[in-house]
Amino acid sequence: MHATQIRQAYIDFFVERGHARIARANLVPREDPTTLFTGSGMQPLLPYLLGAPHPTGARLVDSQVCFRAEDIDEVGDTRHTTLFEMLGNWSLGSYFKQEQLPWLFEFLTGVVGLDPSRLFASVFSGSPRWSIPRDEESEQLWKDLFTGAGLDPVVTEAGSAAQAAARGIGNARIVAYDESQCWWSRSGPPDTMPPGEPGGPDSEVFYLFPQVPHDPSFGEHCHPHCDCGRYVEIGNSVFMQYRRTQDGFDLLPQRNVDFGGGLERIAMASADVADAFAIDLLAPLLDEIRSMRSAQGSADSEADRRAARIIADHTRAVVFLALDGVEPSNNTQGYVMRRFARRAIRQGLHLGIGDTLLPTLCTTVVSTYRDAFPELVQDEEHIRGVLEREESLFRKTLARGVRELPRLAGRELTGDAVFKLFDTYGFPPELSVEEARAQGVPVDPNWSDTFKKLMAEQRARSRTAATGMFKGGLADRSVATTQLHTATHLLYKALRLVLGDHVVQRGSNITSERLRFDFSHPKKMTPEEIARVEQIVNDAIARDWPMRVSEMTPDEAFAQGALGAFGDRYGTTVTVYTAGDPTGEWYSKEICGGPHVAHTGELGRFRIVKEESSGAGVRRIRAVLE
Ligand code: SER
Repeated sequence: MHATQIRQAYIDFFVERGHARIARANLVPREDPTTLFTGSGMQPLLPYLLGAPHPTGARLVDSQVCFRAEDIDEVGDTRHTTLFEMLGNWSLGSYFKQEQLPWLFEFLTGVVGLDPSRLFASVFSGSPRWSIPRDEESEQLWKDLFTGAGLDPVVTEAGSAAQAAARGIGNARIVAYDESQCWWSRSGPPDTMPPGEPGGPDSEVFYLFPQVPHDPSFGEHCHPHCDCGRYVEIGNSVFMQYRRTQDGFDLLPQRNVDFGGGLERIAMASADVADAFAIDLLAPLLDEIRSMRSAQGSADSEADRRAARIIADHTRAVVFLALDGVEPSNNTQGYVMRRFARRAIRQGLHLGIGDTLLPTLCTTVVSTYRDAFPELVQDEEHIRGVLEREESLFRKTLARGVRELPRLAGRELTGDAVFKLFDTYGFPPELSVEEARAQGVPVDPNWSDTFKKLMAEQRARSRTAATGMFKGGLADRSVATTQLHTATHLLYKALRLVLGDHVVQRGSNITSERLRFDFSHPKKMTPEEIARVEQIVNDAIARDWPMRVSEMTPDEAFAQGALGAFGDRYGTTVTVYTAGDPTGEWYSKEICGGPHVAHTGELGRFRIVKEESSGAGVRRIRAVLE
C-alpha cells in the first residue's frame, strides 16, 4: 500500500470502530504557547485528554501534519524528515488497552498487510521509584497477538536503551524497557514532567528491516530502540492515565489512549524499503530534483544524495508552513521557515540548481498531496508567491554574503561576524556557520553565545527606542491604559468569535491613548467583520461584566481553555482573568498579569481606528476608547 492509501485505510478502519474523524490542526499551535509548531497529534487535544468533553465524542481519529524543526540536523540520511504525518486515534476515557493493541495489530497486518514476523513490540517495565507498576496487561495482549500469528512471544527485560545495546535482546519479540523509553509525556520521562502534566506508559511497535545491517557505532547490539535504522518505530500507543503532582502521580479522571503512527514509516514497511524518500510522498520530489540537475549530467555522490534529501524534506516543510499561514521573517515560526527555505536553496546551489528551486518543487508537493489536501491546490498561488519572494530575496543577498564571509570572518568565524552577516545580509546564523565550514574557515566554538548576546542587545535597543515598553506590553499603569488593557481582552474574544479560533495573539502594545493588538489571521478583515467586532466589544461593555481574577497552574488554565499570549513562558502559578458568562459563548478567559478594571462598564465606547498587515500572516488592529 502507498502512503496515500494507508492514510485513508487508517481513517476508515477507525471510523468503522466508532471514531469521529477530526480535522488536522494548524502547524502553528493555537493555544499552546510552550511550542512553536504542532509536533504530535495529541497536542491540540490536551484539554480533552485532561477531561474536558470533546464536542464530537470520546473516540477520535485523524492524520496530523507534524513539524519537528529540532530534527533539522538529522535530515540528509534516508530516515529522518522534519515534516511528517502522524496517524492518530484517541480514546478519551472510552476504550483502553484491550481494544487498542488488537486493533492496531489488525490494521498493520490485516489491512496494510505487514508481515507479523517483522513486527516487534515494547512494553513498560514499571517504575519502582514512582510506584508505577509494570504494564502487564499490554505484555499479555502482545503475547496473545503474536501467538495468534504463529510466533513465539519471547519477552526480554531491556532496562534502558544503553543497557539493551550492551546486552542485546536475544530472540525476543516483546521488549520491556524502563521509563526512559516506554513512558510518554510532552516533557519526557516522569522525572522531567512539571506538575499538572499528563502522561503514561507506552507500547511501541517496530518494524524490522533485516536488509539494514546493524551499525555498531550505535552500540554493541541492535535492539528496537537502536537508532541504526534496522528497527524502525512505526507506532506508539500511549496509555495516558496519569498526571504529575508535586511529589508523585495522580490518576487522571479518565483513562485515555493516545496513539501516534508514522504514516511515512508505515509506508516504508509496506513497501519494504528502508528509505523514507523512496515512498510515494517524497519520491516525486527526488525525481524532480534529479531532472532539474540532469542538464549538467553530473554523477550522484553520497553528498549529492544527501543534499537532494535535505531539499526534498525542507521544501515539503516550507510548502505546508506557507499553507498554514507562516511567512518567512526574522521571528519565531517565520524565522524557522526562513532557515529551512534558505538551507534548501543553498543545498540546491551545491547541486548546481541555480534558479526557482522552491516554486518548481512547490508544484510537485501540491500535485503529490492534491487529493488528501485540497487546500494546497486552492492556496497554491499564495504558497508559490511566498516561496518565490523568499527565494529571490535570498539569492540576491546570498551571492554578496558568500563573497563577504571570508573577509568578515578573517581567520575565524566569530559570533560578531555571524551577527553582522545576519544583520546585513539576512543570513540565518546556522547558515553562516555551515557556509564557513564549507569554505574551510574555522568557526569559533562560542559563536552562538556571542551571537545571542548581540541579538539581545539589539532587541533591547529597538524596544526602548520604540515605545519604552513595560511588562505585559503596557506603557504605564494609568487608568486609561488599564481600561484599554481590558478592552484588549474583549477584542481578542470578539475576534475569535467573528473570525474563528485560528486567531491567536501575536503581540500587544498599549498606551494611555490607544491599544495595538497583533493576531494571526491570513487576510485583511472586511468592513463588515470590523463592524461586527466593534459591536461585540461594545455589547460586552454594555453588559458591565465583572473582571474576575483567580490563580491556578498553567496546565489547569489551559485545560479550562484559557488563552495565553503567544511566546510567554509561565511559572508554576498564573493569574487568569475572566469576563462574561462561563456557561455561554461569550466568555473571555486569559492568562494575564493585569491590571484590569473591575467592571467592563467602565470602558466607554470602543472603536477600531485601523486594521492593517503586520507581516507573516499577522494582522494589526489599533483601537481607542471614546
Ligand atoms: N503522543 C505520542 C507521540 O507523539 C503518541 O501519539 O508519539
